[in-house]
Amino acid sequence: MTMVLPTFPERKVGLTEGYSKNSNHNGMTLLCLLYKRIKRTLMSCTFQLTKAPEHLLQALHEVIPHCELIAQQLPETPISLWLIPPVFPTDRLDDEVIRRIWNDTPYWIFCWASGLAMAQWILAEPHHVKDKVVLDFGAGSGVVAIAAKMAGAKRVICCDIDQVSLNACRENALLNDVELEYLDDLYKAEQVDILLAADVLYDQCNRFFLDEFLKFAPEVWVADSRVKNFSHTKYQKIDERSASTWPDLDEAKEFRNVSFYKTL
Ligand SMILES: C[S@@+](CC[C@H](N)C(=O)[O-])C[C@H]1O[C@@H](n2cnc3c(N)ncnc32)[C@H](O)[C@@H]1O
Repeated sequence: MTMVLPTFPERKVGLTEGYSKNSNHNGMTLLCLLYKRIKRTLMSCTFQLTKAPEHLLQALHEVIPHCELIAQQLPETPISLWLIPPVFPTDRLDDEVIRRIWNDTPYWIFCWASGLAMAQWILAEPHHVKDKVVLDFGAGSGVVAIAAKMAGAKRVICCDIDQVSLNACRENALLNDVELEYLDDLYKAEQVDILLAADVLYDQCNRFFLDEFLKFAPEVWVADSRVKNFSHTKYQKIDERSASTWPDLDEAKEFRNVSFYKTL
């Protein structure tokens, strides 16, 4: 069953209190979300009232107890994902829960702004991936991989170091009726035609992947809302698009602009 919520006017919000200078600032973002008094006005949102996969719920509850997962359609895409609800109960967040979120951030419960922007771009310009073998590095929920497959890619490999993320990718692939492949380590990957990476530069330690990606694909696309213009001889910034993490994290305006980089 599908329930379409009414359309609300676009929200004008104050900024979250900046980002942590700590490398794990996506964890910080999540904490910001959970601490905030959440008032949500959504542009429009479609929820599917089917039951969430039990193993994903279990994995989520190990980090955040009592939190639901809802299949939600992403803005300006036909893609639905199992994500946390836009309104989240914050009253049960004790120190232990916060510690677990911090140490073991379940990235897959959000579609990050860069992933959404990249998925929208792929669906709008499918020729980039059509008939190609694609690898989605740091797949998270699998949003980019699903978009690539919908756009006509021959094969799409979700690569994520987190097994639960790969499970979420599997469930999200089922939800969208697409067939994907799964890999837990980039270094096990074969050569592909295109490597896509959305929101994986949040940790300074991940920057070396910009060089590693080049070993696996002749064409690499990186989308990132945190890093505004990295300097690398093999990449150029080619575009900037606006997008928000879904459900909306009330991120600062500067993080609602996603930069796109492509290999030269
Ligand atoms: C912020 S999430 C982005 C998810 C998705 N691309 C999106 O935009 O919604 C970053 C993802 O990168 C994954 N990741 C981090 N380090 C990785 C590594 N060394 N190899 C593969 N995946 C990694 C994390 O597990 C996480 O799922």
